[in-house]
Amino acid sequence: MRVGILGSGLMGGKLGTIWARAGHEVVFSYARSEQKLKKLARDAKGPAKAGTPADAARDADALLLAVHWSRVDDVLKQAGDLSGKIIINCSLPMNTDDSALAIAHTSSGAEELAKQVPKARVVSAFGTVPSEVFFGVFAARRKKVRPSLVYCGDDAKSKKVAAELIRDVGFDPVDAGPLRIARYTEPFTLLIAQLAYEGDEGPELAYRFEHYRTA
Ligand SMILES: NC(=O)c1ccc[n+]([C@@H]2O[C@H](COP(=O)([O-])OP(=O)(O)OC[C@H]3O[C@@H](n4cnc5c(N)ncnc54)[C@H](OP(=O)(O)O)[C@@H]3O)[C@@H](O)[C@H]2O)c1
Repeated sequence: MRVGILGSGLMGGKLGTIWARAGHEVVFSYARSEQKLKKLARDAKGPAKAGTPADAARDADALLLAVHWSRVDDVLKQAGDLSGKIIINCSLPMNTDDSALAIAHTSSGAEELAKQVPKARVVSAFGTVPSEVFFGVFAARRKKVRPSLVYCGDDAKSKKVAAELIRDVGFDPVDAGPLRIARYTEPFTLLIAQLAYEGDEGPELAYRFEHYRTA
């Protein structure tokens, strides 16, 4: 797949690196220095390159949107026409000082994004885990038991693509339903962040859903 990274920071840098290592063609874009994008592409040791958001969007089978909520308008503007594109959003609608969700309960960042780019197909994924866990999950991908990763969206084909990219990182994709379920997955991330960053065991945290049935 061709995967465009819109926002090459903690999330985009790591996920893009992993996807390149898994064999996808990755374009890293949107950082404050071009050198950083070039270094990411070099260090990915896979089919990766640096480019502009428009380069990342061109011919992309999927785009990862991984910027602070306050930068969404800017990166989308630089990406250009996203009609028909699959946008996997991990960006959370946090306020400027990252102390609270600016959108919650009656809508979600993912739904507002879908309204902003109505011709694109938005899937919400990857935002429920800290970036610190990605390389560990990727390294453990051949183990029998994988951590879960919830995703949601309204377009079946795009969700299939997202599920494949989730599997490539080493997670077990869990389809949580339509995009409006992001109203629950986005606040869930704040619980994960509390455990990851305020707990004693470090931020390399993932989760796993299990069923326990009686007979
Ligand atoms: N980090 C996590 O563990 C985590 C977990 C779940 C969800 N999320 C969400 O994922 C999204 C991305 O988070 P992140 O931690 O990856 O953020 P980040 O590390 O700050 O990455 C954001 C990227 O945007 C770039 N950027 C910022 N301002 C820019 C500007 N004016 N021009 C060009 N590029 C600019 C940054 O450039 P530089 O590289 O030059 O700084 C960076 O590459 C956020 O919405 C966050 O809420 C993050």
